[in-house]
Amino acid sequence: MAKQYDVAVIGAGAAGMMCAAAAGQGGKRVVLIDHGDKLAEKIRISGGGRCNFTNLNVGPNNFLSDNPHFCKSALSRYTPQDFIALVKKHRILHHEKHRGQLFCNDSAEQIIQMLKAECASGDVTWRMPTKVESVERMDDGFLLATDTGDILADSLVIATGGLSIPKIGATDFAYKIADEFGIRMVAPRPGLVPLTFDGPSWAPFVPLAGIALEVDVETGSNKGKGSKRGVFREDLLFTHRGLSGPAILQISSYWQPGTPIVLNLLPEMDVAEALIEGKGTLKKQVGNVLSQWLPTRLAEGLLQANGFSPDQRLADMTDASLRMIGAAVNRWSIVPTGSEGYRKAEVTLGGIDTRELSQQTMMVSKVPDLYFIGEAVDVTGWLGGYNFQWAWASAMAAGLAL
Ligand code: FDA
Repeated sequence: MAKQYDVAVIGAGAAGMMCAAAAGQGGKRVVLIDHGDKLAEKIRISGGGRCNFTNLNVGPNNFLSDNPHFCKSALSRYTPQDFIALVKKHRILHHEKHRGQLFCNDSAEQIIQMLKAECASGDVTWRMPTKVESVERMDDGFLLATDTGDILADSLVIATGGLSIPKIGATDFAYKIADEFGIRMVAPRPGLVPLTFDGPSWAPFVPLAGIALEVDVETGSNKGKGSKRGVFREDLLFTHRGLSGPAILQISSYWQPGTPIVLNLLPEMDVAEALIEGKGTLKKQVGNVLSQWLPTRLAEGLLQANGFSPDQRLADMTDASLRMIGAAVNRWSIVPTGSEGYRKAEVTLGGIDTRELSQQTMMVSKVPDLYFIGEAVDVTGWLGGYNFQWAWASAMAAGLAL
């Protein structure tokens, strides 16, 4: 005999726990199912172990989606202030780190314990670890066949996230359910991910691993269907396989394979102008001059990549050469070979096409009582607490509607 519930939530991560707690506290009999041995691993490792749980500056412009208006309703009905109130209720000390990003003072584990406690106040039943073998639409709800017994529920919420970091339990479960029920998808791809480079043009930069500096980075354009322009000022980090750091993670979500990203390594300075002006006064080698403004190895790598020697005397160089060096610093255009993929991506772009969902409740319009929330949906935030805020807000939209 199948166990009967009002709501079954599959996926006990950020969105799943939040939704189960809200529905349970609203009086529903809720069962929360997860296949993992350990609870909410992604929260645990988030924000370097301190969970950047929201951002004070959340707005729809901080999210990517094929349907950019979709997220507005849920985000405006459950705001960062609402989540901060919950965090305060549980006496979790926190601080603002950088541009509105809020982190726990102690540990991400506190957020997991908070969500567990909220589920307990909603009398949520746990089934974990449990593998869902099949999902069937019945006249009176959804029948889930699992390896710990059948479950019958009036409503079903899919909160199994995206494909990022498979080694801690990410699966394509949400996408398989979408396929089974004929629900459209936006093709998933890794987001917030380091970019890789190879080939002879990258050779001068391979030894630079470890160098970090603040840069402007941009890619894409707002012209043409589907293309989006991203512009960020953040830290860049050279790695053994390419580029990383917040600047690259942010821009990776906007980057389209085969297209360039453009870096300004000295955003506050017109390098060509400074070099040309310096010709009369700076009687030095160009490598030494650039090293006043950039890490020496980077200055030398850039000169080498553009066919110059660091030993060339500035005074002997043509204005055209100095303009070329200026462009290499202020508008360095490079085409990534690829990305580090889901193994390193913090999020998955794409997912359940939002045109299939109600923006008020996250319910699938053509399959009543079936809901998708969190990262499984085609709404992806910037780096900086935005993705958790989407998880909380979409979970509350569904949790209060159930
Ligand atoms: P989430 O991935 O949290 O949960 C999905 C759950 O479903 C998991 O518990 C999983 O075990 C379960 N599941 C999967 N397949 C299943 C199946 N077949 N059957 C049953 N259960 C299944 N964001 C942010 O805002 N601030 C931050 O600081 C960070 N930091 C960060 C660091 C790293 C390293 C990563 C990888 C990601 C982040 N993020 C982040 C992103 C953030 O973690 C992510 O967007 C949310 O966890 C998404 O919440 P969900 O609940 O949708 O998925």
